[in-house]
Amino acid sequence: MAILVTGGLGYIGSHTVVELLNNNFDVVIVDDLSNSEKFILQNIEEVTGKKPVFYPFDLKRKELLSQVFDAHKIDGCINFAAYKAVGESQEKPIDYYENNLFTLINILQEFKEREISNFIFSSSCTVYGQADTMPIDENTPLKIPESVYGKTKQMGEEILIDFAKAYQRKITLLRYFNPIGAHPSAKLGELPIGIPNNLVPYVTQTAAGIREKLSIWGNDYPTVDGTAVRDYIYVVDLAKAHVAALKRLMENKSEETTVDIYNLGTGNGSSVLEVVKAFEKANNVEVPYQICDRREGDITIAYANADKAEKELNWKSETTLEDALRTTWEWQKYLKSREL
Ligand code: NAD
Ligand code: WQD
Repeated sequence: MAILVTGGLGYIGSHTVVELLNNNFDVVIVDDLSNSEKFILQNIEEVTGKKPVFYPFDLKRKELLSQVFDAHKIDGCINFAAYKAVGESQEKPIDYYENNLFTLINILQEFKEREISNFIFSSSCTVYGQADTMPIDENTPLKIPESVYGKTKQMGEEILIDFAKAYQRKITLLRYFNPIGAHPSAKLGELPIGIPNNLVPYVTQTAAGIREKLSIWGNDYPTVDGTAVRDYIYVVDLAKAHVAALKRLMENKSEETTVDIYNLGTGNGSSVLEVVKAFEKANNVEVPYQICDRREGDITIAYANADKAEKELNWKSETTLEDALRTTWEWQKYLKSREL
């Protein structure tokens, strides 16, 4: 029995594969390397001493996907594969809808035909938009996301809920807040292609001298210091939540439809300036910055109430912001040593 991990060589996927292997799951990865590198597979083996099965192909290729299900007894799936760049999704909406939704539907067709249950979906706090109250729990009303990327996440959730209801299957939607950090071994981490859009990769590259200055998008928000607030969750903590969610699904032997939804965050909000200061302190480096206008489409504040995950999955975030940011810096040094 194996777990299919799509996008398993990507940022969150690779960390989750490590946790699955450490928990003695057999793992089958499908990843087309559109946003990852083959050396990550080697590094997963170095970190775990185990070798996951790996298929390098695009999940839109239905016939190849079917062959994976023929070759392995798949007992569940964690579906990370997706395009995730918010700005790019506005420029290439059809590519985003195609990649993020056709891949999902192809996997669900296999699940439907082969009577497989246990599906975990990578969703995002973006489905809440700017929530009216903080912290955000799972009952907070959803808003139509501003970006095409966000819409693919909301549509993915709806497709999965309809799937679970129609075929009496068990699914879990995990809504991540802002994942950061790298593996403590410094062999796995985020691989930003080109100029990073996300805060922590940009801060890291600025500290490393690859970027001249961080632009802080707005300091006139109604927050503690005027900069926007997010909930930054350490990627290894996040990866562990997937194992907990998978175990819960697999232990649930009921034949009835199950739809579990969990917010995965720390429960704490940090401002942009607080992240910059924490990075400087954790790594004893300087991050030059300038204050700029607000970025279009940004929300003011988002942080999770993750009590449901704590209660039902027995999971909670354990790593401090500073510790997480220390791993990011170690990962940056590793990339430099490999000239990546
Ligand atoms: P990532 O880009 O590092 O990983 C995604 C992986 O999927 C990549 O390795 C890529 O090569 C692969 N992939 C993409 N399309 C594919 C296809 N058609 N066939 C096969 N492989 C394909 O991204 P990540 O940060 O690890 O995110 C994983 C998931 O979590 C995504 O679904 C993303 O939307 C979601 N998510 C991410 C964040 C975040 O900030 N990183 C936040 C919330 C939700
Ligand atoms: C965080 C804060 C920026 C870069 C995005 C996606 C969302 C989800 C998480 C996947 C904001 C500020 C950033 C910079 C800055 N991903 N910032 N200078 O905006 O919360 O969300 O990632 O589902 O869908 O939209 O994350 O890291 O881009 O920004 O000042 O160079 O840092 O304005 O306040 P965000 P982020």
